[in-house]
Amino acid sequence: MRIVVSGGTGFIGSEVVRKLLEAGHEVVATSRDPRKDPWRGRVRVEQAFAGDAGTLGKAFTGADVVVHAIQFPNHPVEDPSRGRTYLEVDGRGTEVAVRSAKRVGVRRFVYVSGAGAGQGRPQVWFQAKDRAEAAIRESGLEHAFLRPSWIYGPRDHSMNRFVAFCRYLPVVPVIGDGKTPVYPIHVEDVARCLADAAVREDATALALELGGDRLTMDEIVRTIQKVLKKRRPLLHHPVGLMKRLVWPMRFLPEPMLSPDAVDFITQEVEIDPRPAQEFFGFRPRALEEGLREYL
Ligand SMILES: NC(=O)c1ccc[n+]([C@@H]2O[C@H](COP(=O)([O-])OP(=O)(O)OC[C@H]3O[C@@H](n4cnc5c(N)ncnc54)[C@H](OP(=O)(O)O)[C@@H]3O)[C@@H](O)[C@H]2O)c1
Repeated sequence: MRIVVSGGTGFIGSEVVRKLLEAGHEVVATSRDPRKDPWRGRVRVEQAFAGDAGTLGKAFTGADVVVHAIQFPNHPVEDPSRGRTYLEVDGRGTEVAVRSAKRVGVRRFVYVSGAGAGQGRPQVWFQAKDRAEAAIRESGLEHAFLRPSWIYGPRDHSMNRFVAFCRYLPVVPVIGDGKTPVYPIHVEDVARCLADAAVREDATALALELGGDRLTMDEIVRTIQKVLKKRRPLLHHPVGLMKRLVWPMRFLPEPMLSPDAVDFITQEVEIDPRPAQEFFGFRPRALEEGLREYL
């Protein structure tokens, strides 16, 4: 099959590309910069921009399936002055992508949604996911939405920030009371599900939540410390205080946090990962095991 991974150079997209190549498919990856070629010629890299029907349509031409994994740089910190917002890139961007896919005859659209989508939640990141899912559903294309919880792996920028905190700081800062539930899942396990959803005949009209074991933020940090063999105290910062403290970061070119991003990372989203585990036929690796593989 010919499969286009839009956002194929990203954290999740590149892992999906790798899985699809291993399975023997012809893979095209999109990027804003077509000179990027981490696969040394084994993958065609097509230039495409979120929200641009022309470049997306060209990249999708001749494909059977699109796996859509585009997100704006430095997410979850939005930068409206550069068009880097959830509604623009993930919401409208996916609407344009699915219309472009349909126009050029793509059969199936697989979308990397997120935990908490599909519930009509008011935050912009959920609104964007809901808009994207609605457009895909209404397109009439075969489709699958996978809604992962927190994804980690060698190239991630969020779990690995806590790894650095645990390695180098005398105390580990945690925003909130540390009891926020998360279902961390290794990027390879997410990519395995996405690659499967791209090609399985029965993976149509599918919406599944992806996650590993339910852990609290404190348990996640303790697991990182266990793997690193470093035990340091955890220092909890109230969410309201953190939002005020990070506000001035807006004057930096690539701020690490924003008040909205604090809300994003401390939000409570419970999921049920069992239907996906049943459908894809495997249980994602435990966090400790996944971290030991690369730390
Ligand atoms: N990471 C998580 O924990 C997590 C959890 C749940 C859901 N998700 C979802 O997974 C999807 C992918 O996230 P990710 O973490 O893999 O993101 P990422 O590593 O930041 O990758 C983003 C991809 O989007 C491309 N891109 C960025 N801006 C673009 C633009 N304006 N036009 C076209 N392409 C653009 C990038 O390509 P170039 O830079 O090469 O142009 C890159 O390939 C997102 O929808 C996200 O919401 C992520």
